[in-house]
Amino acid sequence: MLKGKNILLGITGGIAAYKTPILVRLLKKSGANIKVIMTPAAKEFVSPVVLSTLSENPIFTEFVKQTTSEWNSHVELAQWADLFVIAPATANILGKITAGICDNLLLATYFSAKCPVFIAPAMDLDMYKHPVTTENIRKIKFLGNKIIDATEGELASGLIGKGRMEEPEQITKIIIEYFNKNKPLKNKVITITAGPTYENIDPVRFIGNHSSGKMGVALAKIARELGAEVHLIIGPNNLEIDNEINKTQVVSAEEMYKAVHKLIKKTNIFIMSAAVADYTPIKINTQKIKKSNTSFNIELKPTKDILKSVGEIKNSKQILVGFALETENEISNAKNKLKSKNLDLIVLNSLNDKSSGFGFDTNKITLIDKNNKVEKLELKSKTEVAVDILNKIVSLLNK
Ligand code: CTP
Repeated sequence: MLKGKNILLGITGGIAAYKTPILVRLLKKSGANIKVIMTPAAKEFVSPVVLSTLSENPIFTEFVKQTTSEWNSHVELAQWADLFVIAPATANILGKITAGICDNLLLATYFSAKCPVFIAPAMDLDMYKHPVTTENIRKIKFLGNKIIDATEGELASGLIGKGRMEEPEQITKIIIEYFNKNKPLKNKVITITAGPTYENIDPVRFIGNHSSGKMGVALAKIARELGAEVHLIIGPNNLEIDNEINKTQVVSAEEMYKAVHKLIKKTNIFIMSAAVADYTPIKINTQKIKKSNTSFNIELKPTKDILKSVGEIKNSKQILVGFALETENEISNAKNKLKSKNLDLIVLNSLNDKSSGFGFDTNKITLIDKNNKVEKLELKSKTEVAVDILNKIVSLLNK
């Protein structure tokens, strides 16, 4: 959920700091990279060793590293972060932020940060209720920071009231929701076909192809990361598929056709990356075909063209992406396919590069959109190619 996100945690010197190892653990478990800045006072409340172990990074406190006399760059830390969360935030730090005081690494990083900042105040109830604190929180919100409000309950002083730091589980949820809300494919449903199809000849034999399904699985993974509801309709393969992806396992082209058409109405974006068999046996033998000494023919009939069938019925808001594997006149053949199948985008696979295509982890593609704009991309990992394709789709959605 937070995969690849860099989260900077600032811890100040309040008793609620004892909960921050749990926060680090939850954020890590959600896939984030974590770096921790502690004020000197925070070290009285929670062990830097625990935080360093859980975050898998050194802890930052001083402007200058004590061991090597190197600088701890607040600018670098601020630039690294996709999000900065200060939890717990004491009355002292709130006051310093609003007054523009910058006398420790955490504050210097705060003043250098351009990323969103979440601040979770925690203090005793009378400090929290104090008009100065109320005013500081108002100013901090006004500055564009997000306040994770303190909750009510028993406080370290034994008093009962508002001032407890929000629970780590809830802070993690708020951060995840923040990133989800800003995902470009949020509220979009994507249907992806992937892998080969197997067309049965008899109970033990089939006509298939070498497609591994890797490209389609990479597309499904990235689409999910970008916030989409993903439906992956995949032919025979042995790839691991994330359980956040709705998977439909199919075998034949006919099964794939039916699974796609079940999703026609709810889908916003179709990506047809499967290597679908163009022909299937007219008759499937119920028993294993015995060998003989005479020549042997299997009569084939064309399968339904799934991509074309979607192009014929899709509405103007639905985006349809097809793949093309060409060996000659690549660009003009792909352009013709784009037009004849009513596509918004075609991904042209090159077989001319040795590390591209079936079975490889890399791919070299050319993107052609319905305005005939041609973009030739470098040889990249299939995950990077998936990012390029989905970024292109996002740009088409916003047109
Ligand atoms: N495709 C499909 N259903 C089929 C055959 C192909 O949905 N029965 C889709 C593939 O998933 C791919 C695109 O069509 O997105 C292109 O497949 P390709 O084999 O390159 O093109 P064809 O249209 O089959 O034409 P040809 O083989 O003549 O090049």
